[in-house]
Amino acid sequence: MRKLLNKLLIKFGLLITKAPTFLTDKSLETSDAFPAELTEKVTVVQASDAPKNPLFDAFSADTNVHKWHHYFDIYTRHFDQYRDRPIKMLEIGVFRGGSLRMWKDYFHPESTIVGIDIDKTCKDHEIADRNVFVRIGSQADPGFLAEVNREFGPFDVILDDGSHKTHHQNISFGALFRSALKDGGCYMVEDLHTNYWLKHVDSEDTFIDLAKQMVDMLHEPYIDRKETDFRHGHPEAVTQLELSYLAANLACIVFYDSIVVIDKKTQHLPKAELR
Ligand SMILES: C[S@@+](CC[C@H](N)C(=O)[O-])C[C@H]1O[C@@H](n2cnc3c(N)ncnc32)[C@H](O)[C@@H]1O
Repeated sequence: MRKLLNKLLIKFGLLITKAPTFLTDKSLETSDAFPAELTEKVTVVQASDAPKNPLFDAFSADTNVHKWHHYFDIYTRHFDQYRDRPIKMLEIGVFRGGSLRMWKDYFHPESTIVGIDIDKTCKDHEIADRNVFVRIGSQADPGFLAEVNREFGPFDVILDDGSHKTHHQNISFGALFRSALKDGGCYMVEDLHTNYWLKHVDSEDTFIDLAKQMVDMLHEPYIDRKETDFRHGHPEAVTQLELSYLAANLACIVFYDSIVVIDKKTQHLPKAELR
């Protein structure tokens, strides 16, 4: 019902920034296949300590960064692999510039960190002599994103911490994944709890919805096929398939609380072997 009302409002251009009062935030729907012991309510308590994480220590040393505590272990798990060489990072959403400085200190010193923001005052956070650049424009403008990519890309790491509007997240991913993210690169979208808060939902599909669809796309090679199509040495084995660009370049999709990570890597045909 919520989705249908949203769909109509979006269609007629009515759902832009503010949720109408008769609509509620997204509710949790769970399959009846879950046994009751997995869906029964249990108590979760506040953490007693700050994260034990060097990146969290760097975050704590700057007063102008806005991040949730549980993100630091996730950043470390996915970004540590890029620290041994100069990389290019694009962060959508500069705010007070603290995160750009944090990334500059975290990654290899010769890395290039680019922030984009719609707010012109964010330009003040550029530190060109340290390869920290800021460009002003909207993450919902594919032309602007293409310009940023032409000037600085392609990127090893792209982090979306911008408007948190669902249609912006969708447009940015659509505009950047193919041309602006390197093979072997990492695309991360954070603060995805906002996909469950109606005032941020202004598209029929949220980014979480797209990410769930990407789980199916990971399995695109298997749709309408059988195991022998992939069996090593089998006479019926296929040697090539036509797949969507996404399916042909998705290494993995990882879901965390409020974060989705998409690793990009050229894929080969899956191969099964019976020894
Ligand atoms: C959550 S803050 C970024 C926080 C920053 N990354 C940090 O960790 O401290 C979100 C930023 O997104 C910017 N923003 C809002 N709409 C935008 C858009 N359409 N395109 C790009 N940036 C946008 C806002 O101006 C704001 O500075």
